[in-house]
Amino acid sequence: MSEPGGAAPLKIGIAGLGTVGAGTQKILVENRDILTARCDRELVVTAVSARDKSKDRGIDLAGIHWCDDAAELALRDDVDVVAELIGGEDGIAKSLVKAAIQNGKHVVTANKALLAHHGTTLALAAEAGGVTLAFEAAVAGGIPIVKAMREGLAANQISRVYGILNGTCNYILSEMRETGRDFADVLAEAQDLGYAEADPAFDIDGVDAAHKLALLTALAFGCEVDFGAVHVEGIRAISPLDIRFAEELGYRIKLLGLASRTERGIEQRVHPSMVPMGAPIAHVEDVFNAVVADGDFVDTTLFQGRGAGAGPTASAVVADLIDIARGHKSPTFAVPATALTPFKAAPMAGHVGCYYVRLMVVDKPGVFAEIAGALHDHHVSMESILQHGRDPGEAVPVVLTTHETEEAAMLATLGAIEKSNAVVETPMLIRIEAL
Ligand code: NAP
Ligand code: HSE
Repeated sequence: MSEPGGAAPLKIGIAGLGTVGAGTQKILVENRDILTARCDRELVVTAVSARDKSKDRGIDLAGIHWCDDAAELALRDDVDVVAELIGGEDGIAKSLVKAAIQNGKHVVTANKALLAHHGTTLALAAEAGGVTLAFEAAVAGGIPIVKAMREGLAANQISRVYGILNGTCNYILSEMRETGRDFADVLAEAQDLGYAEADPAFDIDGVDAAHKLALLTALAFGCEVDFGAVHVEGIRAISPLDIRFAEELGYRIKLLGLASRTERGIEQRVHPSMVPMGAPIAHVEDVFNAVVADGDFVDTTLFQGRGAGAGPTASAVVADLIDIARGHKSPTFAVPATALTPFKAAPMAGHVGCYYVRLMVVDKPGVFAEIAGALHDHHVSMESILQHGRDPGEAVPVVLTTHETEEAAMLATLGAIEKSNAVVETPMLIRIEAL
């Protein structure tokens, strides 16, 4: 074992011993020697808290103080850093983080929900208190994207940041495509693997990715965290049929989070996207996440790694602990919290892009004419149309793709098409991204 250089150990209090909390303790124990050598001091867990003291978590907690109430961690003299690994945008997670900061403790958290809702306020409090608020684990699991945005890319004006930000959704979409397995079945597996949120609706409805995108936006553009300004759609409606049509058209369907500076303001959106097969991100599968950041001098950068699960997420938590142990300080969102600015959100109705539309129509004469009429009326230019086989009197899928058009025009077109007696289901719309 390396000899520490004499600095006092960094004393850590862990709140939450589930997938991430237990994973964090495991790294701190198994990699103790290398961590001590890298920090020139020891990283020691002195106190922990979870709900059920009797639960076997597969980790050794001997000699570590157990707090029945996580709030105690914010008050203990033997805690320098509180690692908040409980979760939730409010409740105990929020009160613990606030109290820890007020009591002069550094905070490391994996809680993107908390920061998406209260990030600016908490960053201001941490800055005023002279403590660190670090959240590497909150965005894209094991990928060091927060550090990259805050430090490695700090020389650049960032024009766009986007990526696959939810491991559970990417796992589901990959498995559905590769194995034809059922959505619910794959989701249950993702939960068993520790990928999903306590409420998996946050994953599949796009909310978790939106939390992360709001944090990336603040890092990229030096603005306040504004989760409410993110346009959010999830993957529930994606069917095997859409996955097959995407392949045929040369795309993969991915749940993307995209933030960009536009003339209309900052656009933040999370939704299923048709990604061209030639784009590297199209081949990011399984629980992997990927983030692309475009900077004015660095050009395009791509980061990839596991986006969820005990090991990758805990790796990110420990990276933040190492920074604190080394005395490294960086502003929470890359600029001083007092300099974070409110921003103008670009309304989604003004978004311009290409679209994939799948209609289920009764196969009878005149249907195409009706569709073409609606496109014409709203000035939407069609790029291609597909219908395979025919089954007179039965519903068949008709897929069309468009040239660039404004979202409002596209939605108005679908509204008109949906009124047709020949259209038997709500049309499926997926945005096509030029990446
Ligand atoms: P988890 O497995 O459900 O663990 C949550 C832990 O919090 C459990 O140990 C639970 O105690 C404890 N807890 C719940 N309420 C508590 C309370 N009132 N006081 C003290 N402890 C309490 O969740 P997780 O997956 O580790 O996620 C933790 C955080 O990391 C969340 O913010 C999540 O969004 C984030 N995150 C997770 C992943 C991932 O892959 N799982 C990745 C990135 C970020 P018991 O064990 O006794 O029930
Ligand atoms: N539930 C999240 C996901 C955990 O699947 O990506 C990682 O943030």
